[in-house]
Amino acid sequence: MAFNVAIDGPAGAGKSTIAKAVAAKKGYVYVDTGAMYRAMALYFLRSNISKDDEAKISSVVDDIVVSIKYEAGSQHVILNGEDVTGLIRTEEVGNMASATSVYSAVRTKLVALQQELAKTTDVIMDGRDIGTVVLPNANVKVFLTASVECRAKRRFDELQAKGENPDFDKIAKDIEERDYRDSHREISPLKQAEDAILVDSSNMTIDEVVGTILDLCK
Ligand code: DC
Repeated sequence: MAFNVAIDGPAGAGKSTIAKAVAAKKGYVYVDTGAMYRAMALYFLRSNISKDDEAKISSVVDDIVVSIKYEAGSQHVILNGEDVTGLIRTEEVGNMASATSVYSAVRTKLVALQQELAKTTDVIMDGRDIGTVVLPNANVKVFLTASVECRAKRRFDELQAKGENPDFDKIAKDIEERDYRDSHREISPLKQAEDAILVDSSNMTIDEVVGTILDLCK
């Protein structure tokens, strides 16, 4: 039986940073499920499909092949044969991913891929519904959160470090909207699994959060 760690939480809580660090320490494979929703979103954007057009989205889902591969330990997302890893980190793609991940056709396809990966491999998987839907029997479940203000500040600092000129209020508003949409959708909303441990990283360093999760994996 593979060892599975599920990390769920809202956008910007630090899930991927933490999960990558735990994966490196424990030799688990890190699976970033948000990247899969983003790859699908990129396909919809490129095809000029409206985020509101569920019928169209459901009808093209079968034309989309999303897979992941690992190079030097880092995850690459492949969309119909093209490595799109470098193209999916924009706000536009993130917002489209949030909007289109509400549809069951999209979720069914990606959840199956995620479950397949976790069956045979020790994984630490991050997302919104990992502990509740994708890996309900995960060995360790963490719900990682932080205040909106903290998450907006982290995103602001990240963009500034990249030489951009971000607007703090706009970032905070986007985060709030995304939280609302992710946690109020009908299918698999973002929510803490009953048996998940809540970790609020607002006043914790990365090392402290990583240490907390490593302890849970013992
Ligand atoms: O974690 P992220 O920001 O890369 O995710 C992008 C969007 O994908 C997120 O707003 C909601 C959706 N998502 C999801 O519905 N379920 C997951 N397991 C992961 C992401």
